Amino acid sequence: MKHLLKMLDLSTEEIIDILDLADQLKYELKHGIPHPHLKGKSLGMIFQKASTRTRVSFETGMYQLGGHPLFLSSDDLQIGRGEPVQDTARVLSRYLDGIMIRTFEQKEVEDLAQYGSIPVINGLTDFCHPCQILADLMTIREYKTDFDGLKMCFIGDGNNMANSLIVGCLKVGMAVAVACPEGYHPDPQVMEFAKGYGDKFQLTDKPLEAAKDADVVITDVWASMGQEGEAEARRKAFHGYQVNDAVMAQAHADAMVLHCLPAHREEEITEKVFEAHADEIFEEAENRLHAQKAVMVKLMG
Ligand code: CP
Ligand code: NVA
Repeated sequence: MKHLLKMLDLSTEEIIDILDLADQLKYELKHGIPHPHLKGKSLGMIFQKASTRTRVSFETGMYQLGGHPLFLSSDDLQIGRGEPVQDTARVLSRYLDGIMIRTFEQKEVEDLAQYGSIPVINGLTDFCHPCQILADLMTIREYKTDFDGLKMCFIGDGNNMANSLIVGCLKVGMAVAVACPEGYHPDPQVMEFAKGYGDKFQLTDKPLEAAKDADVVITDVWASMGQEGEAEARRKAFHGYQVNDAVMAQAHADAMVLHCLPAHREEEITEKVFEAHADEIFEEAENRLHAQKAVMVKLMG
């Protein structure tokens, strides 16, 4: 594994390896056992979109690993004034040991990896959010012990979160059901991948159907970063695509609920369901730290 660009690139073994290391790093952190695997190494973190969790967990994680994180806002970099990503990649490769990037187009992340000579980590694009899904899988395994026989249900926008969850959950052996309105389906590349899993994958426009017998219920905002101008149209299109009591009544009684955050209460999830599952949701947020530290150790250690 040279980069973390998208879940489609990872083998099942690589995913499990990352999760195992993440569990170990979490244990060590909780027990005060130092783990300076990246002593003397630097990670550049390019942000073209806002972030709370990704920025703080990468920055703190790098510090805990003995390395040095650099926050690079695209407003301050020459990339924000049009310097090509190919040149930025070759320059940064001469200073840093790794780059994390959050941006719009997946191609920009792939180009950074192609033209640079250091590991690149995707911190979210319009296409996918692999760091989040590794944390989600870590949380699912923590609560459910094993992935075998589990069903994940996603309700909402077939966007970056759905795209990565479908791939990640199928790769570790879970069944997946996704409910999206017409016009907001997952990416065709992901649909093509999912087709190979036969009836372990289901796409429907009926949230209650998708939630039937689910062990994990996941949703995401109706309007993602960069889609603020579509918010009104999306509110209409996603009406009814909400994780609420009716959806949870279809799922198993002990089903968990995850949300990558930030959440919009009473849009994609009700306040009641959110608060009933707050422990899982905030464990998931914490696990961003441990999963990303594992990714950095694998790529830069
Ligand atoms: N879930 C997630 O990526 O959060 P941030 O946008 O705050 O980084
Ligand atoms: N789909 C959301 C995820 C945020 C972590 C977005 O792209 O804004």
